[in-house]
Amino acid sequence: TVLVVDFGAQYAQLIARRVRECHVYSEIVPPTMPVEEMLAKRPKAIILSGGPASVYAEDAPVAPDGLFDLGVPMLGICYGHQVMAQSLGGTVENSDVAEYGGATINVTSPGMLFAGLPHEQAVWMSHRDHVSRAPSGFTVTAETDVTPVAGMEDLERGFFGVQFHPEVMHTEYGMELLRRFLYEGAGCRPNWTMVNIAEESVAAVREQVGNKRAICALSGGVDSAVAAALVQRAIGDRLTCVFVDHGLLRKGEPEQVEKDFVAATGVNLHVVDAQERFLAALDGVTDPEAKRKIIGREFIRVFEEAAREIVEGSGAGSPGTDAEPVEFLVQGTLYPDVVESGGGTGAANIKSHHNVGGLPDDLQFKLVEPLRSLFKDEVRALGEQLGLPSEIVWRQPFPGPGLGIRIIGAVTRDRLDILREADAIAREELTNAGLDRDIWQFPVVLLADVRSVGVQGDSRTYGHPIVLRPVTSEDAMTADWARLPYDLLQRISTRITNEVREINRVTVDITSKPPGTIEWE
Ligand code: XMP
Repeated sequence: TVLVVDFGAQYAQLIARRVRECHVYSEIVPPTMPVEEMLAKRPKAIILSGGPASVYAEDAPVAPDGLFDLGVPMLGICYGHQVMAQSLGGTVENSDVAEYGGATINVTSPGMLFAGLPHEQAVWMSHRDHVSRAPSGFTVTAETDVTPVAGMEDLERGFFGVQFHPEVMHTEYGMELLRRFLYEGAGCRPNWTMVNIAEESVAAVREQVGNKRAICALSGGVDSAVAAALVQRAIGDRLTCVFVDHGLLRKGEPEQVEKDFVAATGVNLHVVDAQERFLAALDGVTDPEAKRKIIGREFIRVFEEAAREIVEGSGAGSPGTDAEPVEFLVQGTLYPDVVESGGGTGAANIKSHHNVGGLPDDLQFKLVEPLRSLFKDEVRALGEQLGLPSEIVWRQPFPGPGLGIRIIGAVTRDRLDILREADAIAREELTNAGLDRDIWQFPVVLLADVRSVGVQGDSRTYGHPIVLRPVTSEDAMTADWARLPYDLLQRISTRITNEVREINRVTVDITSKPPGTIEWE
């Protein structure tokens, strides 16, 4: 394990991901964690992340007591580099000139990290303070015009510091430097591979569930699909998956779950057709949050009914049967959810209605969360390793309330059908253009309460506009509108207006997030 001490920047998750891309397992820990607890995780290396504070700020986070006496190799990045320097007797200064963005370092003494690499390297900087004097025992390895100690190392103790961000793409040799620190500096071995992850997770689920039974709600999304496939591999028929078809999915998605997923995994699937029920509950509702609440509530009720049937149908606990009870609920919680909710227990991680939270007291399950330590890209790789179809593994994120929040206005069956057709055309053309993996999400939004005048085949039409909302993003927290090629937009527009009679106008949303959100509701 490599521990990434999170000093409060958004960079800690990125560092942890990059370490794993070097095939070394990493975990994020807070700087408030006592060193005994860190040691208990048997770290091969510790990385101190960047952070927004100045080491001289009043409540600046500090390294836990004794951190530098552990005898564990360490890499300080940005703020972490400054904390390392200051803790070991170097000097950190506040300078007038900040460095934000691209910069060039000069390697002054290559040491271990820079050996054999070019003398000048492009790096990504984001700091105001800087280390002006390295602690004794350290060699200064790199500098910039404004930063005298942009890199330092003490090979004896295995301590390394860099003022720039090796985890950021714009740092030319960033990954190479990380690899050198991990493999040469800390003696880590690259054994965090998908084959190992799959085997270890399957074994862990088997151990946790024992000979009991589990259920899982499938949403059609990649997380629940991979979680279910993994648990299926571990306990086979003792897993039952519930798929609630609420009628708000996109064209072809229910079939993907009901046919392709089952074919790939052989999973036991219980389908509930709840389309009428959701439509009735949503009747006349236009407020986005009200829609979300209704969809979430109905989902839990339907799932609860299905779960109850499965629990009772298993015959568990009834005299004369030897069936094991359904004790576990599988959830596709990912590592970023765990980190963002403070790393607490599973119960705290209810983010959307998919993470079935509010089940009644007499229907309590223990949670199985086999993806709890994985990042999204690892979940996709794991899905491929488990043999899931690529349409499922590479699916773009889709909101739990589905098309219900992509119809601006009340949700009706007709409107859903119109939107489904237009959305299918947009998706198909995006796929044909080979751009699926470049686009984070591509909502298609029906302005159902707006009408616009058009002319088609010499006659006037009075139809609805539709909005294309393709975005690029890393994590959905921020996003930019995607610059789709004009000819692709042209094809989508022509096909939608030709093939979907009710739509006579196609628009493209060119708002970034912020200020716009990705979804319209
Ligand atoms: P926004 O629209 O806030 O969306 O920029 C950020 C990400 O969250 C998804 N999203 C949801 N997911 N239930 C979900 O499960 C919801 O109610 C919901 N609302 C938005 C959205 O698709 C994007 O990925």
